[in-house]
Amino acid sequence: MLTKIQRTSDFLVIGSGIAGLSYALKVASFGKVHLVTKANLQESATSYAQGGIASVFDTADSFEEHSTDTLKAGDGLCDPAIVRLCVEEGPARIEELFTYGVPFTCQNSKPHLHKEGGHSKRRILHVQDQTGRSVQNILIQKVKEHPNIEVFEFHQAIDLITTHKFLTPAVQDQCWGAYALDTQNNQIFSFLSPSTVLATGGSGKVYLYTTNPDIATGDGIAMAYRAGVSISNMEFFQFHPTCLYHPKAKSFLISEAVRGEGGILIRKDGTAFMKTYHPQASLATRDIVARAIDHELKKTGDDCVYLDISHKNPQFIQEHFPTIYQKCLSLGIDITREPIPVVPAAHYQCGGVVTDKYGQTSLTGLYAIGEVAWTGLHGANRLASNSLLEGLVFAHLAALHSTEHLRHTPFSIPDLPSWNSGHAEEARERILISHIWDEIRRCMWNYVGIVRSNQRLEKASLRIQALQEEISSHYWNFTVEKDLIEVRNIALVAHLIIACAQKRKESRGLHTSIDHPSKKGIPQNTLLIPPFTLKKNFGTPLQHFASIPRI
Ligand code: FAD
Ligand code: SIN
Repeated sequence: MLTKIQRTSDFLVIGSGIAGLSYALKVASFGKVHLVTKANLQESATSYAQGGIASVFDTADSFEEHSTDTLKAGDGLCDPAIVRLCVEEGPARIEELFTYGVPFTCQNSKPHLHKEGGHSKRRILHVQDQTGRSVQNILIQKVKEHPNIEVFEFHQAIDLITTHKFLTPAVQDQCWGAYALDTQNNQIFSFLSPSTVLATGGSGKVYLYTTNPDIATGDGIAMAYRAGVSISNMEFFQFHPTCLYHPKAKSFLISEAVRGEGGILIRKDGTAFMKTYHPQASLATRDIVARAIDHELKKTGDDCVYLDISHKNPQFIQEHFPTIYQKCLSLGIDITREPIPVVPAAHYQCGGVVTDKYGQTSLTGLYAIGEVAWTGLHGANRLASNSLLEGLVFAHLAALHSTEHLRHTPFSIPDLPSWNSGHAEEARERILISHIWDEIRRCMWNYVGIVRSNQRLEKASLRIQALQEEISSHYWNFTVEKDLIEVRNIALVAHLIIACAQKRKESRGLHTSIDHPSKKGIPQNTLLIPPFTLKKNFGTPLQHFASIPRI
């Protein structure tokens, strides 16, 4: 397949979750925006977010306390300046959502605030238990209305287009866009732009059991790493303690807000067990609760534990958690009368593409925002409901930077080659790809899960390496297809998680090793520098940030 089809814009956005949509809206009055997304506009982790967005909205709360809770959860690895920046920017970004028309749940004309694990105060703004979908729908509506934004649904970015891949070394390393497969018409386009934004979300699909939707295959991480951009802290994969345990419920989350409103974790026999693990009991941070459940399941041999909120008023439950109530009821579980069977599942990637506070990566012209990025906000464990906040805040800051970049750097896109499939043939045995998919996810679940050991990591590393070689031969011999692109990416993500986990010779935050059970010395990030490495440092600092008009 050889295509000469090029599409040029001022801003290329890859991904239509909270980060990509927010960014697109912010830059649209400065130039033409192409927004590429691999499924329909709605499909993203954002759409499934239940609990809400953490921010200081109560007079009894403060930036200091939100920052302290975030730092505590992050177990020594958050960047305090980034934490403070994000927390302080939060209220302004949420006010914007109010002006866009997001119908946050209110009580006495004030936002109703949920409480979740690790938060010392009630500070989670929410729209009942469907916050993500509600925010996403409003952002989509605004994106669709904007004349400068052109949306390309079912277009899957395959790889970044960079000068160092194609031009002589004398040319400055720069990202000029991405190749993307139109999965409905089987055509590959070059999307060219001086500013490319990865807003591709996380990689929960690397594990057998996850709360994440199917799009979460770590494409952004893999594309950045292949382009020579550093990745950090991938060993910190957050497992959400309470995913619904039912054969017919694929990836359905029971929000932490249920525990915030009084839900208690119990064993099959009805005894509450979290007090024996932590004084905050069911509302301890996620790493602690997920590890406790993992320990309980291994000790008792049970398939799941239970979350009980049936002691609360049924009307209260139905009003606050209508989605969870209905979903459970549809599976025969009446949560107003009986406990909910739950298990931990892979939920959030705390590591990612290394960026500065404006979302800039080490490759000029490439930004990363939202879950794909590693800003330093989450450290070794993300505080609940801080990620929608991160998406909003860093979309805003990246928009400030990239619009300035565009204003100050006149660009002319170099002549870069289009996609060339050479002699690749159409795959005959697609089933092989799905077998590899399954093997990677099982391997990661069994050997790189909540509790790890040197031996398990070594075993996983060898297995993933062998699978990567198998995938590579498919990739270069057969024409690219959605599944093949994704399995290649997820295998690379698995490799990066294992490599980071092997580097960390201690237990900290979400990374627990039976061979290295305690914390060691000064907390360090696990930076992974790709084999092909950019020699550049971070790009232009935004010198006159304060003087830039607010977008
Ligand atoms: P996403 O929302 O995941 O969007 C990624 C986008 O990129 C998608 O549109 C996808 O199709 C697209 N994409 C991916 N790869 C490609 C490619 N190769 N080419 C083109 N497009 C691509 N966080 C909170 O703060 N509060 C919560 O209450 C909360 N609840 C959650 C509940 C669930 C069930 C889950 C799964 C997560 C929850 N989180 C929550 C986490 C939070 O939802 C995510 O971290 C956040 O939404 C990520 O936003 P994003 O814009 O970075 O990525
Ligand atoms: C939840 O509602 O429990 C998810 C919150 C989050 O992931 O931050």
